[in-house]
Amino acid sequence: MDRREFLRYNALGFLSISVACAMPHSHDMHDMHEHHAMMQDSKIDTSFITLQENIALFDPKKFPNNENLKPLSLLHSQTNKTKTFSATIEIKEQELELVKGKKTKCYTYNGLVPGPKIEVYEGDEVIINVKNSLNEATTIHWHGVPVPPSQDGNPHDPILPNTQRTYHFTIPQGSAGTYWYHPHPHYTTGKQVAMGLAGAFVIKAKNDVLSHLKEQDWFISDLGLDNNAQIRANTLGDWLNGREGHLVLINGQLQPKISIDERQRIRIYNCCSARYLKLRAQGVKFVIIGTDGGLIEKPITQQEIFLAPSSRIEVVLQSSKLSDIKLESIYYDRDKMMIQDSKENLLLATLQIKQRPPTLPSVLRTFDTKKPKAFKQVVMSEDHMQMHGMSKKTQEEIKQSLANMFLLNGKVYDMNRIDLTSRVGEVEEWSIVNKSHMDHPFHIHGAQFEVISTTLKGKTTLPQFRAFYDTINLKPNQEIKIRIAQNFEGLRMFHCHILEHEDLGMMGNLMVTKT
Ligand code: C2O
Ligand code: CU
Ligand code: CU
Repeated sequence: MDRREFLRYNALGFLSISVACAMPHSHDMHDMHEHHAMMQDSKIDTSFITLQENIALFDPKKFPNNENLKPLSLLHSQTNKTKTFSATIEIKEQELELVKGKKTKCYTYNGLVPGPKIEVYEGDEVIINVKNSLNEATTIHWHGVPVPPSQDGNPHDPILPNTQRTYHFTIPQGSAGTYWYHPHPHYTTGKQVAMGLAGAFVIKAKNDVLSHLKEQDWFISDLGLDNNAQIRANTLGDWLNGREGHLVLINGQLQPKISIDERQRIRIYNCCSARYLKLRAQGVKFVIIGTDGGLIEKPITQQEIFLAPSSRIEVVLQSSKLSDIKLESIYYDRDKMMIQDSKENLLLATLQIKQRPPTLPSVLRTFDTKKPKAFKQVVMSEDHMQMHGMSKKTQEEIKQSLANMFLLNGKVYDMNRIDLTSRVGEVEEWSIVNKSHMDHPFHIHGAQFEVISTTLKGKTTLPQFRAFYDTINLKPNQEIKIRIAQNFEGLRMFHCHILEHEDLGMMGNLMVTKT
């Protein structure tokens, strides 16, 4: 692509874009989807897109900061029945006073940004009634949680405006871990998350080897506000690289003071649409105890934590310093298109540590190894021909170009096409290859996977520890092999978890069938 030409074009100013994607009306999936009749197009909202690259941003100094970290609000169960979690979530547009004296239009789960934390136990029956009071379709996807496809908020099952639906599933044994939930409607996931929709979902185990530790959540999201404290539209750079809000928040707070005064287990979530986090705190060592899908094999000590969009990690801290410890996110170069990053490190919080490091068992979890029976490959790529001659394109042609740029196995997502098929319970080895020039985090629905090996520049490395993930980052030209088994019949998605790439079609359908 010609970066300079693109910048020049961009400087021409304001242009409104929508991603043109007419929904083909195919009936092949009719049998699999009772909601087929609702599979209409819900295109990217044009009002949410701007090509103006110089939006005046809200001054971070005017955003409340340096206050004590508040725990996430909990979603309360409305039943006393044992082993049952039953609750209601209303999704609505609402003005929140994020900044004193200013009303920011947000989308909220029960009036909250971030949404309420859901905490359940393995074996629980979960019944969540969702009322969509937005003027647009949405879904709730239980990211990483092993729920049946019909209950997983697939884009094929939208909750239309002013309607409700009940998600109903049972939490499998062995799935204790740190998850999250967010919307997943086709074309508008990125927008709805940017507007405020995302929440934590924690599954606990009845006999947890770490039950002696108290817990804390660091739910990290980023908010992009304009100078009028309104959530800003996406720029073309956002569509190409994924949107990064300039206010990086923990539990909705800017640069909070966090005090760790008990023996604490900290669950850290990267729920940003596209922002990569590389956490570091002076004098602090992070003892990793868990990843996306729960406890890892054994505790591993690291100086730094890398969290691609959508990744989660569980840690305990070891510190030689006790107060005024700066928690920072170190600049990570992910080879963005068109954009020159300032390469600055970001202050996320100030830590106060009053604990002695807890003693941890030497083994946290055992993993068994099963040989794969099937093999698959997913190639991530970008079609840079789409950028060619951009300055001469009409608005309609630009839309088409964006909607044809981000590919999996050479194709743009089609809701009605099955890209891959798997059998229930069968162990598979997937090779994910990034043949593009930018990082992309790969995510698959419905099951956790283990990383088997990583290959970059001809050098293959084995993972440092055994762990379960549902999202894994790939650097340009990297290949990662994973082992996975799907345990439910039905339709799953796999995609890049930079939400703008997902919306632009860097996604595929996996059909899981009976053996
Ligand atoms: Cu959080 Cu389809 O993903
Ligand atoms: Cu997911
Ligand atoms: Cu991507």
